[in-house]
Amino acid sequence: MQKVIYDTDPGVDDAMALLFLENHPDIDLVGITTVFGNAYIEETTNNALFLKREWNIAAPVAKGAGQHFEPNRVSHIPPRAIHGPTGLGPIINPDVTGLETDPRDAPQFIIDTVRAHPHEIVIVAVGRMTNLANALSRDPGIASLVKQVVVMGGAFDHRGNVTPAAEANIHGDPEAADKAFTAPWPVVLIGLNITHQTSMTRAELASIAEATGARGKLLNDLSQEYFDFYDRIGDDSFEGMIVHDSCAAVYAAAPELFETRSGPVRVVCGGIADGQTIQMDERIGFGMADDWRPFPSQKVVTGIDAPAVLKVLRETLLLVKS
Ligand code: BDR
Ligand code: CA
Repeated sequence: MQKVIYDTDPGVDDAMALLFLENHPDIDLVGITTVFGNAYIEETTNNALFLKREWNIAAPVAKGAGQHFEPNRVSHIPPRAIHGPTGLGPIINPDVTGLETDPRDAPQFIIDTVRAHPHEIVIVAVGRMTNLANALSRDPGIASLVKQVVVMGGAFDHRGNVTPAAEANIHGDPEAADKAFTAPWPVVLIGLNITHQTSMTRAELASIAEATGARGKLLNDLSQEYFDFYDRIGDDSFEGMIVHDSCAAVYAAAPELFETRSGPVRVVCGGIADGQTIQMDERIGFGMADDWRPFPSQKVVTGIDAPAVLKVLRETLLLVKS
């Protein structure tokens, strides 16, 4: 069983990936750490607690960052038009009375869990990289003890989604992302160039919901406004909703369905390309790559067997018990 810490900002597509991780037979979800992004930190944490209860998830929820790694950064308003008023579409400020977070904050939870299970933990990070950067600052030694960090974030040789240059999870905290990607732990990045190849239609999710009772119905209900958002965009290169965060979750279970390219990854911090992710393809000799060369080689996903990934996602969600 692969032990996974899920670092997340639920978030509609985050919720689907959570249900996937909880139900995949080869994954042992050992913790959920929350971060600000799709909503404020109180909201993403409440959403995680709510989903934990509704989906009967044993893993604890540890509350993470509500502000940037670089404290002087100006905060952006969460993307209410995409993930709804508090992050889970029509489910606004769910009542989580009586539900407790872990006594540790997210960085400490990550540090303790990694140290308790050296070389066994995969961190699936699908929000801003703030908790990862804070954990590395507090205990740099964890880098050599983490098995892998699988990130949904960035856009490689591809446009961004919050600016032409940057993807939301990285644009939301560029300094944190640069720290996480230049650390000496193995990172694999799944950016918009890949996730935009993976969509699920309303009919597909509705049929999963029909087969999986109340738990599937909850996922379907909270996803409807997210579908509406994609309908409004009117991009006819895909149908339905993009399942960004599930790509990272599926990678943790089935990495053979993805192709990667190696080389150090840096994040632009400041200026009009703030949050842009740039990899130095290490197969190419560059004369002046001194801002990349000293840093560890990481993997960027450049290819995906999208039908197979979507099949794994669908089949795992169908395992959800009503
Ligand atoms: C990422 O940003 C969020 O809106 C999604 O949950 C996903 O993690 C896509 O850019
Ligand atoms: Ca997310």
